[in-house]
Amino acid sequence: MTPPVRAARLDGLGTTIFSEMTALAARTGAINLGQGFPDTDGPAPVIEAAIAALRGGENQYAPLPGVPALREAVLEHQRINYGLEPEDLLVTFGATEAIAAALLGLCDPGDEVVVLEPYYDSYAACIAFAGAIRRPVTLRPPTFALDPDALRAAIGPRARVMLLNTPHNPTGRVLDRCELEAVAAACLEHDLICVSDEVYEHLVYDGRHIPPATLPGMAERTLTISSVGKSFSFTGWKIGWCSGPAELVAATRMVKQYLTFAGGTPLQHAAAAALRLPPTYLEAQRRELRAKRDLLCAGLAGAGLEPLIPAGTYFVNVDVGSDAVAFCTELLEHCGIVAIPTSVFYDDHGAAPNLARFAFCKREAVIAEAAARLASLGVVKPG
Ligand SMILES: Cc1ncc(COP(=O)(O)O)c(C=O)c1O
Repeated sequence: MTPPVRAARLDGLGTTIFSEMTALAARTGAINLGQGFPDTDGPAPVIEAAIAALRGGENQYAPLPGVPALREAVLEHQRINYGLEPEDLLVTFGATEAIAAALLGLCDPGDEVVVLEPYYDSYAACIAFAGAIRRPVTLRPPTFALDPDALRAAIGPRARVMLLNTPHNPTGRVLDRCELEAVAAACLEHDLICVSDEVYEHLVYDGRHIPPATLPGMAERTLTISSVGKSFSFTGWKIGWCSGPAELVAATRMVKQYLTFAGGTPLQHAAAAALRLPPTYLEAQRRELRAKRDLLCAGLAGAGLEPLIPAGTYFVNVDVGSDAVAFCTELLEHCGIVAIPTSVFYDDHGAAPNLARFAFCKREAVIAEAAARLASLGVVKPG
């Protein structure tokens, strides 16, 4: 007989809904607005840089901290965009590895991690890997604003890490200065480390992205994480980084060394080229995504749904009134469109609001077709 194969602390984790929905879309020919990845490549000069690195002999292990060209580009990016001068940085296998290594390196078993709910699914898993305990602060529709009282209430005696995500997946909320001041006050009062996932930093349509590390007193306690996946449409490359105080980066590096050591050498060189693209690239991308957001929202509204217009990311949620899983099933059957029930991003799926999440990072023609199907059918709201 096979011995027990899974640690009890991982029970209840592990949604496979994203890959399942993507496979379902491929099988049925449905429009896939489920998983968050673009259906076009990132900029050609960056692909050329990858090819040049592959042909130029950049094919062996990268140094553990990352290739110097990318390290310099990340430092320059942080300085130019936000005036940040981090003490150290580490290149990782996507933001996902930075999140995992940071939580494993910074938390002892039993430590508490305060985290905005709904949350990106790897957070709960990585908190569990570390033997830590998650303390969710729920963001509620329709605005998903961060309630300072709920934040304070989530901080227990063993709180160690504030795991933030702004712009926020899946809600599209971009935390404003007021909300970030509440976060900073809590971190300073309780001596918390802030781990800040900013992978959507350049996908903001209303307001602007404020990195938590820029608030007074926060640079010395914040590990800032990002990657090329979302900003430059290379989600398959998995090149990310984290930056901040030397001690926080060192704790993360120590774990990363034994997870993957290093990876993607030629793509690290190309990621440096991405970060050095002229700002017009990101401006154009923002304009395009905003137009797609508006197009999809118009289609959703045309179907009698109320889109909760996101300020950032490439996701929009709609309140579907009743069971979101049933709604998504019906949406697939009636409209040939895949969306994700947002409840999968909550601890208690049953108590989650009835939201469905749609990604709008697809070609304009695809979004237009989805909008047309939604508007013409207009029958998707169950109950
Ligand atoms: C909030 C958030 N963080 C991290 C990631 C993963 O980033 P990467 O692909 O760089 O590992 C995602 C991808 O969907 C995300 O939504």
